[in-house]
Amino acid sequence: MPDTSAPIAVEMRGITKRFPGVLANHKVDFAVRVGEIHALLGENGAGKSTLMSVLCGLYQQDEGKILLAQKRELSPVQIHSPSDAFDLGIGMIHQHFKLIPTQTVAENMILGLKDTPFNLQMTAIENRIRDLADRYRLEVDPRAYIWQLSVGERQRVEILKVLYRGANILILDEPTAVLTPQEADELGAVMRNMASEGKALIFISHKLDEIMAFADRVTVLRSGENVATVEVSNSSKTELAQLMVGRPVLFTIEKPPSQLGDVVVAMEKVSALNDKGLPALDNVSLEIRSGEIVGIAGVAGNGQRELAEVVTGLRPTTTGRITIRNRDMTHQPPYQFIQQGVAHVPGDRLGMGLAGNLPVSDNMIMKSYNREPISSGIFLRNQMIRTFAQNLVKAFQVLTPNLETPARNLSGGNQQKAILAREITAGKNLTKGDEPPFLVTVYPTRGLDVGAIETVRRELLEQRAQGVAILLISEQLDELLALSDRIAVLHGGEIMGIVDAAEADIEHLGLMMAGELHI
Ligand SMILES: Nc1ncnc2c1ncn2[C@@H]1O[C@H](COP(=O)(O)OP(=O)(O)OP(=O)(O)O)[C@@H](O)[C@H]1O
Ligand SMILES: [Mg+2]
Repeated sequence: MPDTSAPIAVEMRGITKRFPGVLANHKVDFAVRVGEIHALLGENGAGKSTLMSVLCGLYQQDEGKILLAQKRELSPVQIHSPSDAFDLGIGMIHQHFKLIPTQTVAENMILGLKDTPFNLQMTAIENRIRDLADRYRLEVDPRAYIWQLSVGERQRVEILKVLYRGANILILDEPTAVLTPQEADELGAVMRNMASEGKALIFISHKLDEIMAFADRVTVLRSGENVATVEVSNSSKTELAQLMVGRPVLFTIEKPPSQLGDVVVAMEKVSALNDKGLPALDNVSLEIRSGEIVGIAGVAGNGQRELAEVVTGLRPTTTGRITIRNRDMTHQPPYQFIQQGVAHVPGDRLGMGLAGNLPVSDNMIMKSYNREPISSGIFLRNQMIRTFAQNLVKAFQVLTPNLETPARNLSGGNQQKAILAREITAGKNLTKGDEPPFLVTVYPTRGLDVGAIETVRRELLEQRAQGVAILLISEQLDELLALSDRIAVLHGGEIMGIVDAAEADIEHLGLMMAGELHI
């Protein structure tokens, strides 16, 4: 039970932060209590990451002040850098991890610490990590190399790193966006643990279920302003969604009956290896027709990524055959797949998706620059580019001051929307006439707010209506059930069964995902 009389750990008062052309935070009041999990909710671009970057010293506020509990009293503090913040016991776990893959957990832990004695015994450091890991139930081997760890384990290292430095106030920016549902639950328990040890936690998430399950209070930001701070126990998902977007949100979406056409993609007994050279796909056979969405269900790490890469030409197959519109594509290079109208929204979007220093407009046309109507001869037509990019920005509601803004200045979710907009619509610009394109989307709604999720799902159904063949990889069963025509379950690189989405039984899907049922 949250203690509503607990003292305040940190308070932000009247915080205003501007970027060129953007008022990211406007007179925000925000306070977190000792022992509390305080969620921060808001649409993509509402100002959540900016507010927390001010608190952890990455940005300086233009107006307002920060007060911290020191010697039982709240007193104003100046935070000019992340190291100032650390000295005051404030640590942030960023969504994009900053660990060095070729070093061990323990080595990463002391990286950048200014007062680590040169000859500090590694064993002493490792022991301290083990103590912290035990105390907060963040299991990880201090001697493991970062590259050997899963995403969930890397995140534990990031949390341990902040704890190692003695943080009392922990900020977690969308920590669950990259986790499986099971890992997210475990993280919820870890956060609860830390709170009961007297830490104050700030938890950013777009997932209303998680906020309801993990948080004590929630502050909702809209267009940079605090519109409400409420007790989670007195609120509901519906109320939170409404506060966030300023209108009621429908959590359901209507899927019209499918208009199936010819087979666009066929995989016949395809096998492939993962990055470590181990078998990742095992005799996978799957067909996707024009106008069909085939969903892939499964726990992450069961071959999803390899499947997406194999059907886009990014990963070689060891056996089997891949055809696109009856044309043999086995062993063809990726650009041949692109030529055939294959578009790909990768799971790792920030790594492979955007050129951060280039303007939004250039990022939008990357797949279409050498095609009519964008190009004419060798000259790119500026006006065409603008119109093309403008249309995509509008259709996907990408929040950006203008088309010249460098992509890296967009909020996390708006970067995602920009890539989705480009890829979802790319295939059509690549195929000729009535050849239906093929779209592979991996976790398409990850990191998006509820309104944006609605937009993207609608857009996927629109593409389906236009005859695109779609492979949808997702960890969320509700998403798969809402969008797919058929659902294939992957486990250990093998397809355990393919079912009609309309008749799918959640229990059966669960058993297949666990590898206990093969139909
Ligand atoms: N470094 C920057 N330069 C210019 N504008 C920025 C910068 N960082 C953020 N912005 C702008 O400030 C606004 C708030 O962005 P912020 O990243 O805080 O949003 P957010 O609530 O974290 O969104 P998301 O849910 O998408 O992560 C956005 O309009 C964004 O484009
Ligand atoms: Mg953000």
